[in-house]
Amino acid sequence: MDHFNYADGRLRCEGVDLTGLASRVRTPTYVYSAGTLRLHYQRLREAFSALDPLICFSVKSCSNLGVLNTLAELGAGMDVVSGGELARARLAKVPANRIVFAGVGKTESEIIAALGRPGDDEPAAGYQDPIALFNVESAGEFELVSTVAANLRVKARAALRVNPDVDPVTHSYTTTGKAETKFGVDIARAREFFKSYDGHPWLKLCGVHVHLGSPVSSTEPYVQAIAKILTLIDELESVGHRIDVINIGGGFAADYTSGQALPAKAYADAIVPLLRDRLETKWAKTGRKTQIVLEPGRTIAANAGVLLTRVQYIKTSGSKKFLICDAGMHTLVRPALYQAFHFIWPTSVAPQHVPMERTTKPGVPGLEECDVVGPICETGDFLARGRALPPVAPGDVLCVFGAGAYGMSMASRYNSQPLPAEVLVDGVRARIVRRRETYADLVAHELDPEDIQGA
Ligand SMILES: Cc1ncc(COP(=O)(O)O)c(C=O)c1O
Repeated sequence: MDHFNYADGRLRCEGVDLTGLASRVRTPTYVYSAGTLRLHYQRLREAFSALDPLICFSVKSCSNLGVLNTLAELGAGMDVVSGGELARARLAKVPANRIVFAGVGKTESEIIAALGRPGDDEPAAGYQDPIALFNVESAGEFELVSTVAANLRVKARAALRVNPDVDPVTHSYTTTGKAETKFGVDIARAREFFKSYDGHPWLKLCGVHVHLGSPVSSTEPYVQAIAKILTLIDELESVGHRIDVINIGGGFAADYTSGQALPAKAYADAIVPLLRDRLETKWAKTGRKTQIVLEPGRTIAANAGVLLTRVQYIKTSGSKKFLICDAGMHTLVRPALYQAFHFIWPTSVAPQHVPMERTTKPGVPGLEECDVVGPICETGDFLARGRALPPVAPGDVLCVFGAGAYGMSMASRYNSQPLPAEVLVDGVRARIVRRRETYADLVAHELDPEDIQGA
């Protein structure tokens, strides 16, 4: 599942001891395993190889440049949802024709950057090629992207994000494929959309995109959604539209508890047969290739990253025991926001406390129930509640597993807490790929107030 394992009671990431690393780099710190990133990406590649898909790593799940560089070196494309993520993908030297851009609120300046004319203040300024695909979410957006493309005289391609009204059976906040969410265009409107916009000279409407939500723990929602969009594509093609791209989004699950998630192969076994014959028939009949796009984030990054946090204090209040740590909702918001489970365990333990598996009840003796909380002034600031843990003392380092996706990328500076450091481990090598923020960083944009009126 990943390269975070105990040896002689000490947790290691690949060849690096994490208790020692926490002392050197301090805490809180995110640690990523390059080997695990590669393993998960390659598993997806192999599982879906019959479709020869463009695999676009979802940058929102984990946007550190060290992580993006690791995946870009394997040939991964990137799925971005903002100009900032696009700038990161460009800095990671991802070829433009491997970048897709989703999101309901693309601004004009983001569109200009995606068309290859980044603004002067962007880190990768200068002319770039336009990206592979805009995943367009509304008529207004198509109008804006096509107008900007025409003004700049840059040709671009778009896929319509279709909302298939399929329940991904996940948290309501991360459900995106149901009719009542803000994402995409419903199937009835999709037909009208193609009628209105197909044939645009600057923005070629050539694909259909769906993304159901995250994490999607079974294959059934994909099967339902793909059946719906294939019916739509048949209808569209029967009246003369050409669909050359099918983007099935992301959402594959991760192992927050041991063995919880379906393997990549199980998703592929359900999805590939729905698309393969169709692709081959179309190729034989028309000589046209349909490009399949996947946008996985969590399934690649979640188990490739952990969060290290140090216990500051231990206190008892009423019948409850609290481990008060230097990481909290500002460092990892998923428990507070989604009531998400993350397995938490000390990085150094006695031999009898080495966990056999990552679950709520890991089946080792001598555990005590406690809440693992952070320093933030909110009762909702917790990493775990009522969690059985081995004996822990102030100063011990805890590891929060499965934190590589939607961890650091959702971290905040709430309570003026500087953002944590990020470390990328590759074999025995550990590199700081984002230095810990300082108090100077916190106020850097506030020190020189600028008069804009009435000076
Ligand atoms: C459009 C789109 N694609 C892909 C993803 C990635 O999802 P996941 O990280 O679950 O694979 C998301 C996440 O919300 C998304 O909004």
